[in-house]
Amino acid sequence: MVVDIKENVSLKSYSTMRLGGQARWLAEAYEENDIPNLVEWAKHQNVPFMVIGSGSNIVWRDEGFNGLIIVNKILGKQILSEDEAGATVHIASGEIWDDAVGWTVEKGLSGIEFLSLIPGTAGAAPVQNIGAYGAELSNILTEVGVYDDETNAFGSIIASQCGFDYRTSRFKQADKGRFIITNITLKLSKKSPGPPFYDSLKNYLNEHKISEFNSKVIRNAVINIRSSKLPDPAEIANNGSFFTNPFVEQSQFDSLKQKYPEIKGWPAKDGKIKLAAGWLVEQAGFKGVHDDETGISTWPTQALVLVNEHAKTTADLLSFKQKIVDKVREMFGITLEQEPELLP
Ligand code: EPU
Repeated sequence: MVVDIKENVSLKSYSTMRLGGQARWLAEAYEENDIPNLVEWAKHQNVPFMVIGSGSNIVWRDEGFNGLIIVNKILGKQILSEDEAGATVHIASGEIWDDAVGWTVEKGLSGIEFLSLIPGTAGAAPVQNIGAYGAELSNILTEVGVYDDETNAFGSIIASQCGFDYRTSRFKQADKGRFIITNITLKLSKKSPGPPFYDSLKNYLNEHKISEFNSKVIRNAVINIRSSKLPDPAEIANNGSFFTNPFVEQSQFDSLKQKYPEIKGWPAKDGKIKLAAGWLVEQAGFKGVHDDETGISTWPTQALVLVNEHAKTTADLLSFKQKIVDKVREMFGITLEQEPELLP
């Protein structure tokens, strides 16, 4: 096989949290056909395999992975069809998500500009159904191209069959590990985005007296808001939001509201209320905290982001995480769930 397979590679550089053990083997896939070859190689060696993007949502265990890590570097961006209303675009899974967003905005298309600057690859985007500023990938995505490890064949899955929900999909749940995502298809519009906008975006647009909207303006606004609030994983080791926003029943929200009148909550599906995990973490006393014992801190402008300042192991990270989880549970009776995937 032409693909180079490296041995005993530290996984630290394959997670933006920069922690974790070693991979027994690691290879980069540059084209779709590298995937079946590498999968076959792993099966032949009788070891497990795992496909990753840029590691922005991965926490590696200290034990590492006794198998083959396939790093997805498959590139390509293409307009499949276009009319007056919009265009259908095809993005290879190894593309950096934000490069793809920039490319669609340059083409005058609208739909994913709200998801600007989200770290990671295009192929990772459907796995956790990325979302920000009121937009969610599942609203724009039409199809996911896959290599199916059960049938050893390439195919595609339409959006309605992807099991999308808040920060999740079948790729993360029932079919975890079965499909290797090779590309995504998005249906974008030529119509400009318009209000109502998500609160922080609306405030930014008001403050900057912006009243004419197009995808470029929204992309710039989102980039400015994100860069002012969130650490850049290229410079500061972090995985973005470390917890998902929890959902509670209305009755639980009402009783929490009596005790904590300032609590933030938004009506969500099935009569539930979505709470702001960042607010809960901040109230628990963990905003801008530097934990010397573990070397982990929380970001001063967004308590939901954990930063690796000088931690040595994933165990350090998880022990700091536990302090937050315990305190939030004690105060609010809510158990926060980790957002980045703990692998393997
Ligand atoms: N809040 C606080 N204290 C904090 C952080 C937030 O009180 O330390 C409050 C804010 O004032 C706001 C509310 O919590 O009222 C929500 O905060 P924000 O708008 O920053 O959004 P979020 O719910 O904390 C989510 C996503 C982010 C995404 C933003 C913007 C999740 C888990 N996180 O954060 O996604 O960028 O909305 O749309 O859904 C990521 O997934 O890695 C990520 C950064």
